[in-house]
Amino acid sequence: MTVQFGRYAPPTHTLVHLSDPHLLAGGAALGGRFDVDRTLARTLAAIENAVERPDAIVVTGDLADLGEPDAYRRLRAAVEPVSERLGAPVIWVAGNHDERPALREHLLAAPPSEDPLTAVWDLNGLRVIALDSTVPGWHHGDLDEAQRAWLAEQLATPAPHGTLLAMHHPPVPSHIPFFDILELRHQDELAEIVRGSDVRGILAGHLHYSLHATFAGIPVSVASATCYTMDVASPGDRVNGMDAAQSFQLVHVRPETITHTVVPVVEATPVDTFSPEWVARMAQLTPQQRLEAFSRKPGR
Ligand SMILES: [Fe+2]
Ligand SMILES: [Fe+2]
Repeated sequence: MTVQFGRYAPPTHTLVHLSDPHLLAGGAALGGRFDVDRTLARTLAAIENAVERPDAIVVTGDLADLGEPDAYRRLRAAVEPVSERLGAPVIWVAGNHDERPALREHLLAAPPSEDPLTAVWDLNGLRVIALDSTVPGWHHGDLDEAQRAWLAEQLATPAPHGTLLAMHHPPVPSHIPFFDILELRHQDELAEIVRGSDVRGILAGHLHYSLHATFAGIPVSVASATCYTMDVASPGDRVNGMDAAQSFQLVHVRPETITHTVVPVVEATPVDTFSPEWVARMAQLTPQQRLEAFSRKPGR
């Protein structure tokens, strides 16, 4: 239960945003060194610990590393029970490492097809539009004319709580020099479509590090990866992958704003300053007493 002390009412919607699991057939290690099944399992356990009943779990692409049928089946087997326990649907987004026909057949149990994997979700008035920025046979991103026209058509009617776009390739620059080879194309055209629409945020992946930006004035939040992350502590031109700092994001939607909380997936025991008893004690105080108890600096 959430006790409200400040000015903001509880969120209208809570989403879980994770990205880039890059699973392989048979549970093989990615690049021979990253145990991606294990890091996904740890992330899913952390999600179940962090959130009670999210409205959806959004996975922004590179679901499988090589598009293998068994990788999609493994992903489904790992995520489906969590989705069921949390009572939250999974919004799957395709990434450049995915193969649309195998993804459809083995993850979604749908007929295989090379059509873009787009979807529109109505989460109690919050609309999530999943775009497919992948280009079959390539790693860079694009949204072709047909998909852009489809998006414009969807956005012509606003949703009660506004819209979030979910896509793999973020429409933003990276400071890592060679990453621009794989960036999203037709960004000017996309900007024209979303500007002035009810789009309140763009969720993306692909970079394997957390990044926040704006695109056409709209906040963009890139979730890092569950598999391996980019060592952005190194100079831009020497960045490489590392088996550390995996994270996911909690997206809290309120009428006033949307917050994206980066949740590190780590094994650490926190201290117990803010115990349930402490919160209960605060709840019994008047607002002025609470301010005295928690905001007043000692001796001032
Ligand atoms: Fe990726
Ligand atoms: Fe990617």
